[in-house]
Amino acid sequence: MPVRGVNRVIDGRPIFDLVVAANRLPVDLVMDAHGEGSWQRSPGGLVSAMEGAMAAREAAWVGWCGEPGAAPEPFLEGGIFMHPVPLSSIEVEEYYEGFCNDTLWPVCHDVIVQPSFHRRWWTAYQAVNRRFAKAIAEVASEKATVWVHDYQLQLVPAILRAIRPDVRIGWFNHIPFPPVELFAQLPWRAALLEGLLGADFLGFQRVADAENFLRSCRRLLDLSTTGDTVAFPPPAGDGPARRVRASAVPISVDFRGLSALAGSPGVLARAAEIRASLGSPEILMLGVDRLDYTKGIRHRLKAYGELLEDGELDTGKVTLTQVAMPTRERVDAYRALRDDVERAVGQINGEYEVLGSTPIHYLRHSYPREEMAALYVAADIMLVTPLRDGMNLVAKEYVSCRNDLGGALVLSEFTGAWHELHQAFICNPHDIEGVKQTIMRAINASAEERRRRMRAMRKRVADHDVHRWASRYLDALAAAPSRPQRSIPLPDREGGAEHTGPAGASAGDPASGGISR
Ligand code: F6P
Repeated sequence: MPVRGVNRVIDGRPIFDLVVAANRLPVDLVMDAHGEGSWQRSPGGLVSAMEGAMAAREAAWVGWCGEPGAAPEPFLEGGIFMHPVPLSSIEVEEYYEGFCNDTLWPVCHDVIVQPSFHRRWWTAYQAVNRRFAKAIAEVASEKATVWVHDYQLQLVPAILRAIRPDVRIGWFNHIPFPPVELFAQLPWRAALLEGLLGADFLGFQRVADAENFLRSCRRLLDLSTTGDTVAFPPPAGDGPARRVRASAVPISVDFRGLSALAGSPGVLARAAEIRASLGSPEILMLGVDRLDYTKGIRHRLKAYGELLEDGELDTGKVTLTQVAMPTRERVDAYRALRDDVERAVGQINGEYEVLGSTPIHYLRHSYPREEMAALYVAADIMLVTPLRDGMNLVAKEYVSCRNDLGGALVLSEFTGAWHELHQAFICNPHDIEGVKQTIMRAINASAEERRRRMRAMRKRVADHDVHRWASRYLDALAAAPSRPQRSIPLPDREGGAEHTGPAGASAGDPASGGISR
């Protein structure tokens, strides 16, 4: 019987017309103390977004299972063919924790912490990228569409093109692409750019990210760019230059799925229960982040602590619930952040707790999507204050869940989401006084003003949901290096972001779409 997700079988191997490749599979293999494995949903915005985007598509997904060692056998999950790629313990250390998250990650996030440059990490990164390209080639049908994701796989497009020139290759960057002045620090900057230039289309979160990439090509590779395309002579020097298009296609969430979930009786009841269990505070503030130094959690806690100290906020009336999902826990900068955050939470609670009222509820866990939706529905003020973030889907999820037009979003101007959600209460997270004032403005805004802001933001997210994002991306990839025929130029705040696809987004499957961190 044909299985959804398996297109054809050649030499006993299933092959697919659409292949997605990301560092992680959407499910992680988690081993317990007895060595028993179970599959859990992977953390992060990439998986949340792609879950929604892949709901109605037949595809293979190539990625790591989250545990070192031999790769599990390929399997079907949610209609998608999972093709695991193995990473050894050393590769987890040198490729994933090292080059991806201690070299590229800080470079792409404004060097908030000092990046480390190690040649052996680079060697591991090259080896793993080669392995991914080979795994993709194994499951891609002739002329397949291959959609590569994120900074972990920047060399894959060129390697794949060399072994499978027939396939169409797209890459999407979920994180910021840094200004050339920062990107230029990378000793392997030319190889990374050339790796990406193996693609037909490169998608970015913001116009500024695409521009940073094009500028890096001009400055570091001496290539010429025209509009949003770059001319790239083939590495061997024979044949005409290929044109590669680089453009902004900002990612989104499954608005309708989240909205339906948030309106379900179970989630509404749970939201009321959460408020009651927190002592029915007058003001419930919420932060939801991976425990990452880019998220601005320390700055947020400082601002909150000072508001309590100044007496602007009254401990008996306000509480902050901070969900902090564990992430990359063996990388030093993440360990240091956890220590700092937990010290700050302890200090604030020690100082300002009164019987029956705790200033901060700190939850270092991941939660299922129903619980996250209930938290969003319960929260009066959502604090999204990263120092730098490619998009931040939490902001869009909060908005999607507020069917009641209640709540208020405090949003950092250093997120991709800021470019779309201008009606949020905007702050510069480095400016602690400014953050305090913005929080107080959000608290003191009239119900009417909050409704007006929330309505506008919901319209934006509903019109630009994850299904539309995926269609726009795939249309742009199919048409590259030209712009897609179906392009409908819509006014955009940044003036440059391209809008393609049908004016009406496909209605989301209420059962799909995740909650990200
Ligand atoms: O978008 C950034 C990203 O690295 C994604 O690739 C990933 O889904 C998420 O953050 C979580 O990171 P990690 O896979 O390192 O836990």
